[in-house]
Amino acid sequence: MKFGFFDDVNKEYVVTTPKTPLPWINYLGCKDFFTLISNTCGGYTFYKDAKLLRMTRYRYNDTTPDTNGKYFYIKDGDTIWNPGWQPTKTELDSYECRHGIGYSKFTGLKNNIKAELITFVPVDDAVELTKITLTNTGSAKKELSLFSYVEWCLWNADDDMKNYQRNLSIGEVEVIDSTIYHKTEYRERRNHYAVYSVNTKIDGFETSRDEFRGAYNGPDKPAAVIEGKLHKTIASGWYPIASHQINVSLEAGESKTFVFALGYIENAEDDKWEAPGIINKKKANALLAKYQTTEDFDKAFAALNTYWNDLLSKFHIESKDEHVNRMVNIWNQYQCMVTFNMSRSASYYETGIGRGMGFRDSCQDLLGFVHLIPDRARERIIDIASTQFQDGGAYHQYQPLTKKGNSDIGSGFNDDPLWLIAGTSAYIRETGDTSILKEMVPYDNDMSVATTLMEHLKRSFDYIVNHKGPHDLPLIGRADWNDCLNLNCFSEHPGESFQCFGPSEGPVAESVFIAGMFVKYGREYADLCKLMGDNAEADRVLAEVDKMIKAIEKDGWDGDWFVRAYDAYSHKVGSKECDEGQIYIEPQGMCVMAGVGIEDGNAKKALDSVKEKLDTKYGVMILQPAYTRYHLELGEITSYPPGYKENAGIFCHNNPWISIAETCIGRGDRAFEVYKKTCPSYIEDISEIHRTEPYVYSQMVAGADAKFHGEAKNSWLTGTAAWTFTNISQYILGIYPTLEGLSVNPCIPAEFGDFNITRVYRGVTYNIEIKNPNKVQKGVASLTVDGVEVAGNVIPFDGSKKTVSVVATMK
Ligand code: GLC
Ligand code: GLC
Repeated sequence: MKFGFFDDVNKEYVVTTPKTPLPWINYLGCKDFFTLISNTCGGYTFYKDAKLLRMTRYRYNDTTPDTNGKYFYIKDGDTIWNPGWQPTKTELDSYECRHGIGYSKFTGLKNNIKAELITFVPVDDAVELTKITLTNTGSAKKELSLFSYVEWCLWNADDDMKNYQRNLSIGEVEVIDSTIYHKTEYRERRNHYAVYSVNTKIDGFETSRDEFRGAYNGPDKPAAVIEGKLHKTIASGWYPIASHQINVSLEAGESKTFVFALGYIENAEDDKWEAPGIINKKKANALLAKYQTTEDFDKAFAALNTYWNDLLSKFHIESKDEHVNRMVNIWNQYQCMVTFNMSRSASYYETGIGRGMGFRDSCQDLLGFVHLIPDRARERIIDIASTQFQDGGAYHQYQPLTKKGNSDIGSGFNDDPLWLIAGTSAYIRETGDTSILKEMVPYDNDMSVATTLMEHLKRSFDYIVNHKGPHDLPLIGRADWNDCLNLNCFSEHPGESFQCFGPSEGPVAESVFIAGMFVKYGREYADLCKLMGDNAEADRVLAEVDKMIKAIEKDGWDGDWFVRAYDAYSHKVGSKECDEGQIYIEPQGMCVMAGVGIEDGNAKKALDSVKEKLDTKYGVMILQPAYTRYHLELGEITSYPPGYKENAGIFCHNNPWISIAETCIGRGDRAFEVYKKTCPSYIEDISEIHRTEPYVYSQMVAGADAKFHGEAKNSWLTGTAAWTFTNISQYILGIYPTLEGLSVNPCIPAEFGDFNITRVYRGVTYNIEIKNPNKVQKGVASLTVDGVEVAGNVIPFDGSKKTVSVVATMK
């Protein structure tokens, strides 16, 4: 069943009922200022950091799901309604929500009043703009009142939820004309405040939540709206809000439009006040002055659309498969931008206060983002590397605002260092900018011990060389990519962290997955060494890689698939010898992607085992058989009920690894079959089963052992976005950036047909035509570049050209 449809021309998903199985959200904002907005106008806003600079309050875990947002109430006689349905849930005569690229539009109709709402964050300003147009579609004059509503969060979202003994006394606001200023804590250690304003004279305002709602009412029955009159209270403590009242009279057929602006302002420390206790509003006034008219709004909205069209044009495919076209050209790239911005911090499943930026997560997000805005990728790589330790280890997470590592989670996740090589290699393959390798980058933010980024990569690599276990395989530490495989932690008591408990150094648990990574990213590091002329280091690295391959072949192979790990007792994990958890997906994907087993046929065997043992109609499960009891020596993975999350769920992130691995052995049909199973657009018509948004990937889909097999959770912020884009663009469609130039080597289903790709790479636009006359799955017979046939798969890079035409004919 569907709850909407794709409008590809407008790059929108059109939600046609507010009653979606779960809130279906969108993200507004591209750089520093962000809003999450659901299809019923729920959500919240923050500046840079969802924990430390939260502007509006949201209630996770509440009894009315998706409570709090930026609401507009319309009071038309005794009927009170919202264009996005929540919070009054007054049945609408018609409803539509269009989630677009960086904006959302809502149209609600009730009793001959149409409300059209567009909301977005302009490319370069810290403000969310909302244009609302009210139209009288009936034949009689109407007298209405429009009320806006936001509830302020007291900045630190974590403290805001906990510290009531303090927080209920500190709320402060100012109101001047149509602008409400939220200045809690501004008097002391903060130099920022928020504003909420509208471009018209108002008929009332409210800044106290209790006055607005009545102390015992919910947002669905706000007393002041029912009364039809805001009382102009200036909040003092308790729960500050911002609400405007605009009385509107509309003749038959008449429309009126208002522009609302919700902004974030920072003042210099010595320029905070215009009079004692009165905030300096110069910057706020300047910001609001930019967006006073409908024309100002429309211009900024057009600029946003241009910005996005330009970004999305960097990779564009025309094929006969509408799902591929739609996902590749629009939604998958869009989700890559969102995951780049958010890492795993703020979604409807990540509260924005738990983790900031993940080290491994952000490194992987780069893979799907780097072609969009390489300069921002460059900055991110430096930020991430700056949280590395001198021995090559890394903080697992850091806060985006302070850019400092989170010491509560600490380090010891032994895959982390290698992901830095993955991200840096992707950046250099994309841009050719080797200057980044010479940048001086601190360790743990300490500039006095800074070295070049190249040295950071060396230490990443050597961290693994220096942390091997009894089988010469990498020590796993607290966990590897699978955060829940906690082989050294032995977490026994409720409330204890699974990962951070017990020693990470000392025990001997080893990871075959990290071994595969070491081979793959070790080689990429060696390529960078060669590029920089350091052949001796490249030779050393490749010798270490060879040793690792031997270790995998010796102790990482289980007969029909790769072993997952060795636990702290040196027992196998992910082997026929185990009673549960005999086969895991991760080493099959990573080892084959690294090329291990391709020559001797083990790669094919491993992937056949994946198909036989882990496949379902909704995707490939992470392991089988599911763990039915808690294994102290394995950790959190066995804490989940069978079929959920890391315990035999379909963890979408690693499905593209299998798909890529299939392309490595040339099986385009199977690679594409795996791609399709978790691809949102392909499964739109089972939205009632899948439940999360049909336009983005979710982290997890419940596996075959679960009660709700096929149900997804944790949408948006997942490495699935970047890895799927890498898979489809670089491996299936086969446009892979190498250090020397773009290579063209598709691996597609026999019936995929011919296709055209436009790819902007290092400032040159490539128009690539791919022909498959003999319906093969892999192999390019000839490559013609601007009419000249070239040998091999790589288009020689020539920066003097603006556009290049390429024809690749498959065998
Ligand atoms: C989550 C984490 C990611 C981890 C994965 C598997 O998606 O963000 O870092 O690799 O789970 O545990
Ligand atoms: C939990 C989740 C896992 C996530 C981790 C982050 O263990 O199950 O998916 O990666 O938390 O720390």
